[in-house]
Formats: sequence, C-alpha cells, structure tokens
Amino acid sequence: SEIYRAGISGTKPRVPVDADALERAARKALSAEAFAYIAGGAGAERTVVANRAAFDRWQVWPRPLRDVSTRDLSIDFLGRQRPTPFLLAPLGVMEMAHADADLAVARAAASIGIPYTLSNQASVAMEQVRDAAPGGSRLFQLYWSASDELNASLLGRAEASGCEAVVVTLDTHLLGWRTRDLDLAYLPFTRGMGIAQYTSDPVFAELVRERVSGLSTDARLVESAPPVRLTPKAVAAGITIARKGAALTGAGVRESLRSPLPRAAVETFLDVFSTPALTWGDLAKAREWTSLPIILKGIVHPDDASRALDAGADGVWVSNHGGRQIDQSVPTLAVLPEIVDRVGGRVPVVFDSGVRQGVDAAIALALGATAVAIGRPYAYGLAVAGEVGVAEVIRNLLAELDITLGLAGCTSIRELGPEALREA
Ligand code: FNR
Repeated sequence: SEIYRAGISGTKPRVPVDADALERAARKALSAEAFAYIAGGAGAERTVVANRAAFDRWQVWPRPLRDVSTRDLSIDFLGRQRPTPFLLAPLGVMEMAHADADLAVARAAASIGIPYTLSNQASVAMEQVRDAAPGGSRLFQLYWSASDELNASLLGRAEASGCEAVVVTLDTHLLGWRTRDLDLAYLPFTRGMGIAQYTSDPVFAELVRERVSGLSTDARLVESAPPVRLTPKAVAAGITIARKGAALTGAGVRESLRSPLPRAAVETFLDVFSTPALTWGDLAKAREWTSLPIILKGIVHPDDASRALDAGADGVWVSNHGGRQIDQSVPTLAVLPEIVDRVGGRVPVVFDSGVRQGVDAAIALALGATAVAIGRPYAYGLAVAGEVGVAEVIRNLLAELDITLGLAGCTSIRELGPEALREA
C-alpha cells in the first residue's frame, strides 16, 4: 500500500516496476559489455527463455471471501524467522553495474531484512561489506578453488565476518559458453574485476608470491605490468616499469614487485578459481573448514538432491545459474516439485533462475520452495539507481507477492501450497 500511495500522490518510482522495462532501463544505464555480461546466458540462451516459460505451466487460482486483511510473508530459514521469503542470489562483478557495487546491495538488503548472498566474485572484500551494513544478514558463496588452503581461508573469513551460512556453487566447475561475452571478447576477471575476495586474502597473496618467484626476470616484468583496467596503484607500477624500460633489472624488479602485481594476481586467480575435478567425496572437507551451515547451489536433479542430503548438506539451492551455464538445460521450475519431494522437508530448498515478478515467487513457494532468490533484477536496479534501485526492485517484488498471496486467499506463506495453483 505504501507503493500505491506514493504513486497516487504523484511520486514516480526511481526504477521501472515492469520487469521488461527495468531490463531496458538497465541496458541504457550500462556499457554494452556490462549489459551483455549481466543479461546474457549460455549458447543461444534457450535456458534463459525456458526458465521464464516454465512459469507458464502454472496459474494462480484465486479464492475470495477468506479474510486476508493481515498477511504474513515471513519464513523460517536456517533457524531464524525472516521477514520475507526472498534472498539475494550471489552476483559477481557488480562494480560493472555501479561504483558502490556490493556495498549498495548489502545496504539495500539490510534495510529490508533480506539475506544477501555475497559472491566469491564480489567486487568488495567480505569484511568491507559487513562494515557497510553491520546489521545485515549475509551468506557467503564459495566457488570451490583448486587450492584447499584458499577454500579454508575464504570460509574462515566468512565465519569470522559474521556470515550465517556457506553456499557452495556446484554448476560452475567450467565456465559456460557465453556467446555475448565471446563476441565482445569480454571476461571481466581478466581485467582485474571481481577478484576482491582473492586480493584481500592472505593465502591468495602467498599463492601470487609463489607464482612470481617461480618466473624468470623477464616474465616477472610482464606479470607486474598493470591490467587493462587501470587502478591508480597499477598506473604507478606501470609508470615505474615504462620509465625504466628494458633497463629494469635487479633492484628495479624487486622495487616493482613491491608494487601490486595485478597481472600476476589475475593469472593466479585464473589458475585456482575452480576445479573440474571436484567430486561428492571432496565436499566432506568443507565441514573441516567451517562450522557454518552448508547449502549446495546448482542442484537440478532429484538424485543430486538425495546425494546432497547424504553428504550432510544443510540446504539445497535449485538453480541453473540463470541459464548461464548450459544452453537448452532443464528449467529450474520444472524440476522444483520433484526436488522438493525428494528433500521431504528435511532441509530448506532455495529456488532461483527466472524469477522476475512477485507472482513468480508465489508459484515457486506454492510448489514447495522455502525461499526464492533474485538474480538479475537487483543488478538492473543497481545499474539504474544504486542502493535505492536495489531496494525498489525488492520492494516491488514483495508488494506483488503480498497482493498475490491475499488474492489467492492465503494469509501466510505457510498456507500457500499446490492447491493455490492450477496446471494450465
Ligand atoms: C550470477 N550468478 C552467480 N552465481 C554464483 O553462485 N556466484 C556468482 O558469482 C554468480 N555471479 C553471477 C553474475 C551475474 C551477472 C549473473 C546474472 C548471475 C548466478 C546467480 O546467483 C543466480 O543463480 C541467477 O542469477 C538466477 O537467475 P536470474 O534470477 O538472474 O534469472
């Protein structure tokens, strides 16, 4: 009603309410590369389309005359009552959407009481994100690195900085075939973006040092050259090298090695970022690294949901990475009921990929999801209007969910079950 009243009194929203208009506004606000990276999917992007189309199978069945004057959107999640059933999905490299990146997202999420899943590829170190919104609820998402020491270090930091759970993403052991990025020759990490979690990590710094000390003097010079995206420090290092030119040897090399080593850091990141050799057996190690609850993200097969339970996972996150990993993959909503069935209420089931409106969340919740995660829409809000934009996008999703719940004759998320839906 707050949103309606603002509209009636003539206050225009900062970001478009309509999901397609929001995407168009973000496209205008972003560089061609950033928009392609955020909006894009794998291959011909049929999974992106299928994620949306899967909602068409379900219709909400309205039930009037049930006194829905008070409605409760809260859920129980990881042992705590949460005011809403939404989470923010982990999105890396948000510096490409807005200079405040993860700081703006964390503040917006905290202001509404929504847990923010901080990406392994975030643009801001997790401790800084905590400091920006100290009261906010945060989860940390891990891409399982080829370096166990690094995994242990990142999870230790997540726990120490107050994250409530660890989300291990399982669907990115190889990077998807991202056609838009390939056409634009755009991979943000090679430009030194989205690696703040690493460059703020002591174990990572050691890996960079080891890498550099194993190189010849010439190679060290190349490695210490600034990356394409120039930070003031990198520019300073680059100027030192340029001034001394080919004559840079011995003490000069050591001097430049004391400067940041952006290129070496990027190369080290590319080496350790993930491992295609990961198996179910490895997951037990995460238990040694953290005492936080562990949620497995990227589960789309009921048998893998069973394996997750066998492996002692504290949550299952149904996701196909927003259609960014495999073209013509199974859409997540289509497999949600089977996975919910298999999990049988033993652990929470988070759902994402393709949620664009409040009614989409209502459908996923009615089919048994415990919580619904938002991806691209909040990145678009961030691009258009920073922290305010993220908050508006979330509030619009919440408002539409609340209205849909009431019109379906339910007063709480608990009451919202499959009987509120009809198959089209
Ligand atoms: C992602 N996603 C993602 N997932 C993850 O586990 N770690 C990450 O760093 C990222 N980074 C990322 C960046 C961008 C730009 C996008 C669009 C997505 C996937 C994300 O967490 C989520 O699964 C999807 O975004 C959900 O789909 P929708 O809501 O975008 O359709």
